[in-house]
Amino acid sequence: MNTSHPRLGLLGFGEAAGRLARDFSQAGFTSILGYSRSGARAQPGDLVHRRAQAAGVTLVKTVGTLAKKSDIIIAMTPGKSALPALKKIRKYLRPDHLYVDASSNSAHNMEQAAALVGNAAKFVDASIMGPVDLMGIKVPFVASGPHAAAFRDLMTPHGMVINVVGANPGDASAMKLIRSVLMKGLAMLLLETMEAAQRRNILDAVIEDSSVTFNEIPFQKIIKRYVGGTAVHCERRIHEMKECLELLQGMGSTDRATKATIAMLRDMVKMGMPQQFKVEPDTIHPVIDALIAARAKAA
Ligand SMILES: NC(=O)c1ccc[n+]([C@@H]2O[C@H](COP(=O)([O-])OP(=O)(O)OC[C@H]3O[C@@H](n4cnc5c(N)ncnc54)[C@H](OP(=O)(O)O)[C@@H]3O)[C@@H](O)[C@H]2O)c1
Repeated sequence: MNTSHPRLGLLGFGEAAGRLARDFSQAGFTSILGYSRSGARAQPGDLVHRRAQAAGVTLVKTVGTLAKKSDIIIAMTPGKSALPALKKIRKYLRPDHLYVDASSNSAHNMEQAAALVGNAAKFVDASIMGPVDLMGIKVPFVASGPHAAAFRDLMTPHGMVINVVGANPGDASAMKLIRSVLMKGLAMLLLETMEAAQRRNILDAVIEDSSVTFNEIPFQKIIKRYVGGTAVHCERRIHEMKECLELLQGMGSTDRATKATIAMLRDMVKMGMPQQFKVEPDTIHPVIDALIAARAKAA
């Protein structure tokens, strides 16, 4: 493998691959091949053909050619197509190939993909953590598995941003999904809070007030305080949250997130958190460990 500019094979050549390829070309890569089913049939003038030309990519007609003429294969298909695409290219893989699956997928599917590749190539689970069309080669990737560091070491000198997050295939995809638990859950909490605030005609005041907290305290400290504080004070917070629920229901406001909060607080009381944590611990680790241990015991 030419490690200064390895030969790139892009399996799936849609929006993400096309945008990244443009930046790869600018970064000095001279051999970039692309394969997609429509790309294999494309005629000059077709969208995929124009995208390839603009990005300095040669479209190939078979996955066999893609594999033969590439050192690193980056799969950027839709999540549901990742395994079928891998099954098709599997027999052409070589032990020196880095096979990077960058499709958005479940951790389980990534584990399956890694098992399917086996020793045929060096498999990397990768997740793209931002919008490729806006960020191009600077879009953050997280990668996991025994060959994730090789992917990072090979591609970061050329401008990619790759953070190794776990020892096993599936960890990177799990990280992306777990981040969504926070981000999408936070969006739901904001919606519930802001709807209630608007119903009381205090929306701007609530935005102002809550922003003071979140603007002034670093998020690491917020995580520590909220997790640790909840372990210590879960019992008394149930009472307060029941009053919140009553307020929301009285106004006809959405109450799903508040009900979930009460349910979680009750769980934590049942788990004996207030007995275990009389004061906030220095890190969140003992609280999370206690939570996992209590759930295992209850199961
Ligand atoms: N775009 C982004 O900003 C972004 C951000 C984060 C994550 N991602 C993830 O990156 C992946 C690609 O995203 P995208 O936006 O580029 O999607 P896209 O525009 O829909 O492109 C998908 C590409 O995969 C090809 N493909 C589908 N099935 C295939 C198969 N069996 N074998 C070979 N190629 C196949 C498609 O072409 P044919 O159907 O013609 O084969 C197409 O070229 C997705 O998993 C997406 O969730 C994208």
